[in-house]
Amino acid sequence: MSKKKWQNYEIGQCIGRGLQSQVFRGYDIANKREVAIKKRVNIKGAEKEVDIMRNYGQHPALPKLYDYFTFKHRAYIIMEYIDGEPLGRGRKVKKKNEKDALEITVNVLRALGHLHKHNILHGDTLPKNVMTLKGQQNSIKIIDFGFSFKKGKAGVFKGKKWFGKVTGKPIELREQFLLLDDTTDIYVAAFLCVSLLNGHQPQWDEKDGRHIFNLENSRLQAIMEKAMSKEKAFRYSTTEAFIYALEQS
Ligand SMILES: Nc1ncnc2c1ncn2[C@@H]1O[C@H](COP(=O)(O)OP(=O)(O)O)[C@@H](O)[C@H]1O
Ligand SMILES: [Mg+2]
Repeated sequence: MSKKKWQNYEIGQCIGRGLQSQVFRGYDIANKREVAIKKRVNIKGAEKEVDIMRNYGQHPALPKLYDYFTFKHRAYIIMEYIDGEPLGRGRKVKKKNEKDALEITVNVLRALGHLHKHNILHGDTLPKNVMTLKGQQNSIKIIDFGFSFKKGKAGVFKGKKWFGKVTGKPIELREQFLLLDDTTDIYVAAFLCVSLLNGHQPQWDEKDGRHIFNLENSRLQAIMEKAMSKEKAFRYSTTEAFIYALEQS
């Protein structure tokens, strides 16, 4: 079965490399379309990732899942090819003016809103996991569901931490027992916005347990501080509330 599926694709050049994967450009011979092929060694992890992608269905700012199979002890996720660039690589971030940064952030929040309605937390909307589309100003797609969570009762994900070092993450993603909700993604979206505005990622202050940053625009500073409050209860509670605040700024 999987060999048959494997023969359906032509594998092209490597277009990305993450911590846990290699991503190739490819061609789906049967369906005559360009695809991206994410290859992972961790098959359990890939299955989780695919399960999340199946669950969110379709949204213009999320890659379509086309196919999934294993072949020779490797997992292959076949998805929509995105013609664009990530907003950052590693710790490097592309600096944006205020209008562009806010438009991008609102687009990310809209996609996060769709995920939240489908009981998913993305958990990792850092600059490297958000792509801008070639020739389409500020349109984005959120990629990489390798770090996503399915919400449980009362919209909360509860579980043990299984991953190592984190950047751009709030306190609740640094503790051994995870208690995550929509506001976890709101924090990371604000972190992304601050990174775009400043052209670099905010520093984590170990003593205070929060990120430190300075924005030129004091109203935006207040909005981002609220979105990145240490206490979840002080953040915007929904993506819509955060978008509303940004639109009033
Ligand atoms: N659907 C896609 N279309 C085009 N490029 C992609 C696609 N998915 C991933 N990439 C590229 O591959 C890189 C790694 O993918 P990602 O899913 O973030 O892997 P990891 O989970 O290892 O971080 C991305 O930064 C991006 O450059
Ligand atoms: Mg990634």
